[in-house]
Amino acid sequence: MYRTNTCGELRISDVSKQVTLAGWVQTVRKFGAITFVDLRDRYGITQLLFGEELNKQLEENPLGREFVMQATGTVQERTNKNPQLPTGDIEIIITSFKILNKSAVPPFTIQDETDGGDDLRMKYRFLDLRRNAVKKNLELRYAVNRAARNYLHNKGFMDIETPFLIKSTPEGARDFVVPSRMNPGQFYALPQSPQTFKQLLMVSGYDRYYQIVKCFRDEDLRADRQPEFTQIDCEMAFVEQEDILAMFEGMVKSIFKEVKGIDYTEAVQRMSWEDAMWQYGNDKPDIRFGMSLLNLKKPSSVYINKQDNAALINGADFKVFDEAETVLAIAVPGCSEYSRKQTDELTEWVKRPQIGMKGLVFIKVNTDGTYKSSVDKFYSEERLKAIADAAGAQSGDLVLILAGNEERTRKAISELRLEMGKRLGLRKDNEFKLLWVLDFPLFEYDEEGNRWVARHHPFTSPKPSDIETMISNNPVISNAAEYLKHPYANIKANAYDMVLNGNEIGGGSIRIYQRELQEKMFEALGMDKEEQLHKFGFLLGAFEYGAPPHGGIAFGFDRLCAILGGSESIRDFIAFPKNNSGRDVMLDAPATIDEKQFEELQIKLDLK
Ligand code: AMO
Repeated sequence: MYRTNTCGELRISDVSKQVTLAGWVQTVRKFGAITFVDLRDRYGITQLLFGEELNKQLEENPLGREFVMQATGTVQERTNKNPQLPTGDIEIIITSFKILNKSAVPPFTIQDETDGGDDLRMKYRFLDLRRNAVKKNLELRYAVNRAARNYLHNKGFMDIETPFLIKSTPEGARDFVVPSRMNPGQFYALPQSPQTFKQLLMVSGYDRYYQIVKCFRDEDLRADRQPEFTQIDCEMAFVEQEDILAMFEGMVKSIFKEVKGIDYTEAVQRMSWEDAMWQYGNDKPDIRFGMSLLNLKKPSSVYINKQDNAALINGADFKVFDEAETVLAIAVPGCSEYSRKQTDELTEWVKRPQIGMKGLVFIKVNTDGTYKSSVDKFYSEERLKAIADAAGAQSGDLVLILAGNEERTRKAISELRLEMGKRLGLRKDNEFKLLWVLDFPLFEYDEEGNRWVARHHPFTSPKPSDIETMISNNPVISNAAEYLKHPYANIKANAYDMVLNGNEIGGGSIRIYQRELQEKMFEALGMDKEEQLHKFGFLLGAFEYGAPPHGGIAFGFDRLCAILGGSESIRDFIAFPKNNSGRDVMLDAPATIDEKQFEELQIKLDLK
């Protein structure tokens, strides 16, 4: 037997027991004739005490950091207790020990605060994983996994595996492809998600499906994106949007409860896509704080249902506003006393290439009742007050205004809002706010191809009231400049995203389940009949054999874990992640393959 107990287990009540522990040497401290060793395993750290007798043996067989050892001895109360450690009241007086394996000097310290840089830790990820900080993240990941499975199992969902070697499933990214030796010149694609399979399972009658499953997408990476990531993928038959929202709101709340002990009893807020964009400039707003946008001017063809406040800025001969497509403002609480240096810094912040604005206008709502602005020359105090009031500014607030092209300005003010929220401490790690964003547009305009692309994916159904518009109109965009006037621009989808603290943690839709409508959808996306059959013949065919109405959702499992763990990066919650260039630096992958493998695949490389 290698051990009687773990290194995290023994307490004062175990004093006098004979125990054997096994683990890794964290530290060795020599004090004259005695030596203390901190022994670590997955469960904790226990102090071992080597007396005079054993010290001699230790001198002959010196211990080093990360050596693996087994030690037997008696538990005794410590004179010098360590309240930081659960095992800090006791130590083990060692009577015999054995070095099970030596270790080279580790390239960084295996401590919470390590001296190892990112690249080094990724190269030696197996050592990094020994660190408590990383271990905690993986434990949280497992807890989220268990909580999700428990919930779904209790609701009658069945876990069904779907294949990884498939034909492309478009989800908006590029596919990773795998050559087939047995079918020379042909390739599998790795699934971007199990989307079409879960729909086929509905046709097969498995009316509640789930899978915690790897998805593969060849897209540009960010802190919250990996080329292979995990989804909690779900689908249900005989459901409407309300059924899905209720079921999965329940799942996330149950995860909150089981993993974080949080009782999220309030109903999850809901917002239409249009309201989210209008009020926050973003389809995944962080609603932990206010600071919503004042729309001072909008291009005539966007947000047709919304009224802007152009009268507040018009007629002042201020070219920047007059010539801009969009003007947007936020009121930042308590910042009216910003110095020149601080407003200059903010101006530089919005001018950074990632934000891309030309400048920043501000209005200080001073506590003495006066208004000071960078555009005093153009606007009277009365007009400045009217703008500040409309932005919801209170005495002591700072109104920030951006002007420019619609898309960029909306994105920029949304980033600025998040930045100010962060600077003011309004985005707290331990506060969780869920939001459903609903009624997304079904289509998005692709400028390059002058065509429609699916905003979610091609299997998402239009709102019932928009089906007629979809069927009766020709999808071709004859005038690219006026694409927003095309009836397709206003078709809304039966799609929903779940947002947590400003992150999209899940998305799904009620699906199309009739062949004719699915064909119309493919046609709208510019696919002719031949291409439709080639790519999706299996699905169109299945829809002819009694496909039930169905819908579903998939959650970004890694993202959910990262947010619950208070981190921005999903890499910290994945045992073996890739770096920002999509490389596994430990394996040194991707890599070339042997000449023989190329031969077997009948592939010849001819790199451009
Ligand atoms: P979608 O593409 O919105 O939907 O993906 C669902 C959720 O997966 C997460 N996610 C990612 N996480 C890490 N790295 C990535 N590269 C990445 N891409 C997406 C996000 C996202 O909300 N089949 C549909 C779901 C459905 O319609 O049921 C789908 O995959 O949190």
